[in-house]
Amino acid sequence: MDKIVIRGGRRLRGEVAVEGAKNAALPILLASLLTADRCVFHNLPHVVDVGTTLKLLADLGARVEDDASGVSVHAERLARLEAQYDLVKTMRASFLALGPLLARFGRARVSTPGGCAIGSRPVDLHLEGLQKMGARCRIVHGYVEAEAERLQGARIYLDVPSVGATEHLMMVATLAEGTTTIEHAAREPEVVDLAHALTAMGARITGAGEDMITIEGVPALHGLDFSILPDRIEAGTFMIAAAITNGDIYVRGARAEHLHAVILKLREAGVEIKEDADGIRVIANGRLSSVDIRTMPYPGFPTDLQAQMMAAMSLADGRSVISETIFENRFMHVLELNRMGADIKVEGNTAIVRGVAMLSGAPVMATDLRASVCLVLAGLAAEGVTEVARVYHLDRGYAHIEDKLSALGADVRRVQER
Ligand code: UD1
Repeated sequence: MDKIVIRGGRRLRGEVAVEGAKNAALPILLASLLTADRCVFHNLPHVVDVGTTLKLLADLGARVEDDASGVSVHAERLARLEAQYDLVKTMRASFLALGPLLARFGRARVSTPGGCAIGSRPVDLHLEGLQKMGARCRIVHGYVEAEAERLQGARIYLDVPSVGATEHLMMVATLAEGTTTIEHAAREPEVVDLAHALTAMGARITGAGEDMITIEGVPALHGLDFSILPDRIEAGTFMIAAAITNGDIYVRGARAEHLHAVILKLREAGVEIKEDADGIRVIANGRLSSVDIRTMPYPGFPTDLQAQMMAAMSLADGRSVISETIFENRFMHVLELNRMGADIKVEGNTAIVRGVAMLSGAPVMATDLRASVCLVLAGLAAEGVTEVARVYHLDRGYAHIEDKLSALGADVRRVQER
């Protein structure tokens, strides 16, 4: 297994370009199951989760091609209507294959995703929504088996504004008979990007990005040629990398309107931020001031940047209170940061971070994507050498991270372990 070896202490400087958003790419690729036409995608990020989604689509029998004109998926005829456990367990988003298969073919069988390192992450809201639309769902041998002759529009209220459930039900509703409303919907930019893609396929959707989404079902969707929006989480990660290394980075492709909470918090911490039409420049001026963070659904501070911000706060001046309200077990990075010399205590869903003068490099590992990148950021700022093991977590969501960081002046390399 590979590991990332970092010799910390360099100030990062220069320019980095963000990829397409992983969390938009995954549902949008799966939306190609809704049509018999060919769908072409641009700006897909070069991350393992996109590869896994394409593998799933190919496994279902779709024709997947990757050439100079982009990646295309043609799900005209499928070999099976079943997503296997092996693919769903490695990537929870594969569960979103269920709805499109059901909506177009009347039945589907998809493995339940099960728990994961950051919490139990149930799919009850997905299933309740499908049932409201007339699907019969049952769980047999760890698989959800769903059937429906033609799904019916319904009025759905989500108890929590789940990103996945909003996306899943929005996709399904495009082919249902009649009108569906999703109330208390997730408002994340990735939901809006999916709505743009579906609209380009002929769907009738209004309200994406707001609290209530309305979808008027149509009999069929057609193909599309679509470019994925830039990844706000990758952008935010590089912004925090600039902050923690006392650096000066221009993050090309970062969209300020999607990073509002992050920009406010970094400014509050004393970082200078300049926004323009093409990206965001982040200039750190010495030691950060501590700020409190509370993760919230969009437009609140994203849970996917909580770990990275905690790494930065572990070196800030003063005490920072970080509350995680989205996932119940998303502090896996705390013990590892403390092994590097941080002073962090966890009480329930709150971490109290007392800034220290220095972190020291150590061998570390993490059990999820954002926790892993938080350790990379800590390593960039630490004294000495940090080795981050289990790099496959990083590769799920960050493309060529060691190359991008090296180009910014970091001393970082990937080492193959036997
Ligand atoms: C997506 C993102 C993930 C991000 C998360 C929150 C993708 C591929 N992943 O995950 O990176 O961290 O949004 O912004 O886009 N919940 C239920 N029942 C359900 C569904 C969710 O109780 O049926 C709960 C979850 O346990 C969690 C909360 O809702 O506490 C939010 O989860 P959700 O928004 O669904 O996250 P994902 O879509 O899985």
